[in-house]
Amino acid sequence: MDDRRFIEGLPKAELHIHIEGSLEPELMMALAQRNGVSLRFPSIEALRAAYRFSNLQDFLDLYYEGMRVLLHEQDFYDLAMAYFRKAASQNVRHAEIFFDPQGHTGRGVPFRILIDGLSRAQADAERQFDVSSSLILCFLRHLDEADAERTLDEALPWRDRFIGVGLDSSEKGRPPRLFERVFARARGLGLHAVAHAGEEGPAEYVREALDLLKVERIDHGNRALDDTGLIARIAREQIPLTVCPLSNLRLCVVPDLEDHPLRRMLDEGLMATINSDDPAYFGGYMNENLAALRLSRGDMMTLARNGFRAAFCDEASKQRHLEALNAYGLSGT
Ligand code: HPA
Ligand code: ZN
Repeated sequence: MDDRRFIEGLPKAELHIHIEGSLEPELMMALAQRNGVSLRFPSIEALRAAYRFSNLQDFLDLYYEGMRVLLHEQDFYDLAMAYFRKAASQNVRHAEIFFDPQGHTGRGVPFRILIDGLSRAQADAERQFDVSSSLILCFLRHLDEADAERTLDEALPWRDRFIGVGLDSSEKGRPPRLFERVFARARGLGLHAVAHAGEEGPAEYVREALDLLKVERIDHGNRALDDTGLIARIAREQIPLTVCPLSNLRLCVVPDLEDHPLRRMLDEGLMATINSDDPAYFGGYMNENLAALRLSRGDMMTLARNGFRAAFCDEASKQRHLEALNAYGLSGT
């Protein structure tokens, strides 16, 4: 079979997807109309044409603007169901999904509204598409730690609805050390910890995320490659990196995909995984991200295997997914 069909059929886990970043222009427009929210873009084409970014902040400005159409429980449900439908069509078997509560509570949408919509979609996706999923609550790092602490407090009545905390938004000048206490509290509550680091920020931020926030995975992590000691440690400890090729390209984190650091990560024996980040904004979901790098079948199998190994799901599910993947590798080539 050709590469495209091989990628389509490959069983996958997605570990780095912001649910608000899966808001396609069509749904954004429909929700704007349904909710009487005005957008400054006259059409879907005009909106899509605005998706040209020179850096992370350019994108974030539009990302926060777009999420203003999300107001009601049904909106969050529709958003997540659209993602699950797409993920299932690409044979994503398991997804660990970021959500940004401060992007909503800061606009007056209660936490209960968003968590109920997302949870209901998760349950329906499991039934309808056989896609399992978990939620990871991300703190916005452009806001201060007190805001993150309040967000965690607000979320605690729904502690069983999410499995971990993450750290996202503007990275430059916002080092992980600023969030040491809130991460310690979250870990004390038995939550998993991950953080975006080394996307635009330096290798030092990756080190801080590991040493101070004690994260189990690094989201992006590209800039870790600037530091040989850090590379050796990430390889030795097999710390997963959730890499997002099309995101890196669209946010000018890499100049082109031919030179993407993923190749070096695999050569160095790092546990890299492929993910879509904000697929509605960056031009592709899992399959498009995998296809963009023009990898060997062996590398694609390694990346898919790493995705399941790095997931926070239970061991039995992990083994079941890995066996299905191995069977695919034997039959699919
Ligand atoms: N980086 C940081 N914050 C984000 C991203 C990202 O790629 N996507 C959504 N929030
Ligand atoms: Zn991200």
